[in-house]
Amino acid sequence: MRELTQAESRPAGVERVHDAGPLRITTVMTGDPWRENCYVVMDRASRSAVIVDPGAAEGVILATVEAQGARVSKVLLTHGHHDHVGAVAPVCHALNVPCAVHPADMRLVRQAPLWAFRFAGKLIDTPSPMVELTDDVVRIGGASLNVIRVPGHTPGGIAFASNGFCMTGDTLLLEHIGRTDLPGGHAPTLQQSVDALLSVLSADTILLAGHGREWTAGEALGWWSRVRAAPPVLDEHQTAS
Ligand SMILES: [Fe+2]
Repeated sequence: MRELTQAESRPAGVERVHDAGPLRITTVMTGDPWRENCYVVMDRASRSAVIVDPGAAEGVILATVEAQGARVSKVLLTHGHHDHVGAVAPVCHALNVPCAVHPADMRLVRQAPLWAFRFAGKLIDTPSPMVELTDDVVRIGGASLNVIRVPGHTPGGIAFASNGFCMTGDTLLLEHIGRTDLPGGHAPTLQQSVDALLSVLSADTILLAGHGREWTAGEALGWWSRVRAAPPVLDEHQTAS
């Protein structure tokens, strides 16, 4: 089988399904241009669910929710960049749920349509309705996600961890960290966030990033120890791996 090249288009679709303790985590890759990973996280017993980072492809995301019989209570954001929030408005409207983001990223969320147009000439609706996420834990039926603050890529960056999995957004991606050259980005803070995140995750934790394929915290820690002084940065708004 020949390999796909970067230039070939990749349509949105379900890429992986993991069962993690009581949770089912479904990866929906949202297609070109940003190939962002959205996660539908459902408590299998109660079918209660949240959606993390619906960046685009609302039709695929909503079809996944419907196919699983998931009862979504809210949308969560790892951060406020446009490629992670592009489908918030239609998803929240269709499911009649709010979207929660850390207060420090609320400004980026409001600016997301401007950035989407600037980077890709793409029109997205302003994410709404928005609420502030300040809790340490998000309940999903009888299960929960731990909220881990990871500022640096953006001021209000968050990772969500539970049952051997961690959704890392654009803080930590396969052999890359996120860019820090956009408003609110701060490289030393991101470096500290990666240090802190990898210090609390067990080596077998599967890292589910905002773009690209998954890896483990053990793999990430080995890589980080080699590149920490000058880590490769993913320019996810131009080219997604
Ligand atoms: Fe980002």
